[in-house]
Amino acid sequence: MANTNLTNAKAVKNDEFYTQYYDIEREVEAYLDYNPDVFRGKTVLLPCDDPEWSNFTKYFAQNFERLGLKKLISTSYAINRKQERYGVQLSLFETEFETLSPKYDKRNTRSHGKIFVLDRDDNGDRRIDINDLKWDYLKGDGDFRSKEVTRLRDEADIIVTNPPFSLFREFFAWIVSAGKSFLMIGNINAITYKEIFPFVRKSKIWLGATGFMTDMVFGVPKGTAVKPSDRAKAERLGFKGDFTRLGNSCWFTNLDHGRRHQPLELMTVEDSKRYSRHKQIAGHGYDRYDNYSAIEVPFTDAIPSDYYGVMGVPITFLDKHCLEQFEIVGATESEGRGFSEGLWHEESGVSQPLINGNRVYKRIFIRKKQ
Ligand SMILES: C[S@@+](CC[C@H](N)C(=O)[O-])C[C@H]1O[C@@H](n2cnc3c(N)ncnc32)[C@H](O)[C@@H]1O
Repeated sequence: MANTNLTNAKAVKNDEFYTQYYDIEREVEAYLDYNPDVFRGKTVLLPCDDPEWSNFTKYFAQNFERLGLKKLISTSYAINRKQERYGVQLSLFETEFETLSPKYDKRNTRSHGKIFVLDRDDNGDRRIDINDLKWDYLKGDGDFRSKEVTRLRDEADIIVTNPPFSLFREFFAWIVSAGKSFLMIGNINAITYKEIFPFVRKSKIWLGATGFMTDMVFGVPKGTAVKPSDRAKAERLGFKGDFTRLGNSCWFTNLDHGRRHQPLELMTVEDSKRYSRHKQIAGHGYDRYDNYSAIEVPFTDAIPSDYYGVMGVPITFLDKHCLEQFEIVGATESEGRGFSEGLWHEESGVSQPLINGNRVYKRIFIRKKQ
């Protein structure tokens, strides 16, 4: 699977991609549909955010009461630390619409991160909403790895963000090492990172509620070079100007949602042989790998309902994975990561799955639950 966007993001170390309100709303509402109390009484931390522009802060602040939050904390990273340099863009909080806030500090505005907190009705209008957000400069730059932000992580129950792509592994480790609930955006290829797959296999983390095929569009800082095809795609989706589409973006989480309990409707091995819409299967059935003890199922909708051995399926299967229907038993090897649970025939010397000598894509191994 091509991973050009993430590679590009890494090459230019551009971590500035801003999530759209609708994408956040659609995702969060799916958890609420499944469990209306999922955020009730909870402290939510939004790190790596830019509350000046962030739709995460906006969504959670606007919906503070409906979600039943106890506290919302959002932190931003110092402008001086960002990989791309921009002119200082004072936030509305610093300028308070024309007049400078008494807190504005010329020395801090570039070198310090900011913290935004919402936990009570401050303006006396008997509502807790975005108008009650209080802000201050952090002592440091707002790096999520700093002691200061790590303390906020420890205080939080649920961490929600779109973290910097270039630090995805580190950010993930930062969350799971503290055993926190989370909802974060990443790239589906991260599933086979050695730091992440063990959690997927044990069903300790999974893909979010928004279908993987749903395109996500991100805002970018003014003037950022965007690939014409991504800009055009964003435009087709209704976002004109400084926007891009990042292929393969998806949500990762350990919050439960309804989609992961919906079983796939599948055909038996015999019916698939007869009626499959895929020419690789119809009239032929399922191949076995040369170098793994499993059958190859090249499409999620071609998984047979009555096969109890190990099956290799595309990574995008995880988008449709029903916890009660299939267990994840491994993934194809690369760099000797030990993902294949003894399914790999090491003596073949080739870790990429082969069928009659031909290479196929990376696969996840699954087995039907009895
Ligand atoms: C992908 S953007 C997402 C921004 C925002 N959360 C959103 O979704 O709109 C990641 C943000 O993390 C910031 N960032 C980069 N490195 C960071 C670090 N070490 N600690 C905290 N934030 C960082 C970037 O400057 C960028 O604003």
